[in-house]
Amino acid sequence: RNHRVAVIPGDGIGLEVIEAGKQVLETLSQKSDDFQFEFEDFDWSSQRYLETGEYIPEGGLEKLSTFDAIYFGAVGSQEVPDHVSLWELRLAICQGFDQYANVRPARVLPGVNSRLKGAEKIDWVIVRENSEGEYAGNGGRAHRGHPEEVGTEVAIFTRKGIERIHRFAFKLAQDRPRKKLTLVTKSNAQRYGMVLWDEVFFEVAKDFPDVTIDRELVDAATTRMVLKPETMDVIVATNLHADILSDLAAALSGSLGIAPTANLNPERAYPSMFEPIHGSAFDIAGQGIANPVGAFWTAAMMLEHLGESTAAERLMAAIERLTASGLQTKDLGGTATTQDATRAICSDIEQQ
Ligand code: NAI
Ligand code: MG
Repeated sequence: RNHRVAVIPGDGIGLEVIEAGKQVLETLSQKSDDFQFEFEDFDWSSQRYLETGEYIPEGGLEKLSTFDAIYFGAVGSQEVPDHVSLWELRLAICQGFDQYANVRPARVLPGVNSRLKGAEKIDWVIVRENSEGEYAGNGGRAHRGHPEEVGTEVAIFTRKGIERIHRFAFKLAQDRPRKKLTLVTKSNAQRYGMVLWDEVFFEVAKDFPDVTIDRELVDAATTRMVLKPETMDVIVATNLHADILSDLAAALSGSLGIAPTANLNPERAYPSMFEPIHGSAFDIAGQGIANPVGAFWTAAMMLEHLGESTAAERLMAAIERLTASGLQTKDLGGTATTQDATRAICSDIEQQ
């Protein structure tokens, strides 16, 4: 099998960790006669934007649409406002390819220290609605610069958009041993979109009687994640809420440098995109010390999506041996470089 993967390293440490991830994927495919990768690199980045005025060149999305998957680093630069870089590149792809299900697993890998007591009980998948809601881009500003200036940012929730993400989350919960799904909203303070979210959730729930459900307001959900991590399994939440909860989940599981994300178009009408959860990390970019584990775990999710379950399991096992070995980057309290970690995991895979 041949997998055509579009690679968009982006900015900052995105370049470093995606290069590392590609090496690991190459090593895995060399170990197996079953599949190979055909990578194509895209220089869509803030540097490109500063030089040409665009992140994605004309016809770029059409070209991207022919690939089997997209492996993405991070976008964000000190020279470009974040709302420009995010919308022009990452959201342009997610929304352009209707990648409405953003999936973020969280657990503490062996050998990783979490500051949270009882963190070893974390085993969550956060399902984030990725196409509308608070990030629908619906709003504006009136009376610019005037003392009476007003800015609006109005979330849009559609029944169709809500129903498909709930269905996706229920199916995912159904496939896990505990079969639990927690609905997170803020439907006490927000009376329209959030209440619609709740209603549609309970309608969809009728089709999944084997899934145990409960609900939590988003503020209470943060405390429950910290105080009773073992009571949660799959969590479904809106674009904004799940964005925040998944960063919390990543930090509780040890480091932002470890957590992966899949942006899925479950119907497979368009390619899905896989990226570590972290950003371009200005403070450590260019130093070669970024933790590549998030990019490796991301690669494992991509393999799974491409139908290479055996290779995905092999990679996950190699990642766990790496973290357990004590070879750790600075964010985890160690002194290993990105390259040290990459070399170690590649030689481990070669020896298996
Ligand atoms: P960030 O994730 O880049 O960094 C937050 C902190 O975590 C920093 O101290 C950083 O050094 C550390 N960190 C992150 N990944 C790490 C890794 N792999 N290894 C070791 N340490 C790691 O978030 P921040 O600082 O809020 O944003 C920086 C830029 O990245 C901004 O322009 C932001 O818009 C962008 N960003 C892009 C994302 C994306 O492309 N999906 C996601 C988050 C932020
Ligand atoms: Mg985030």
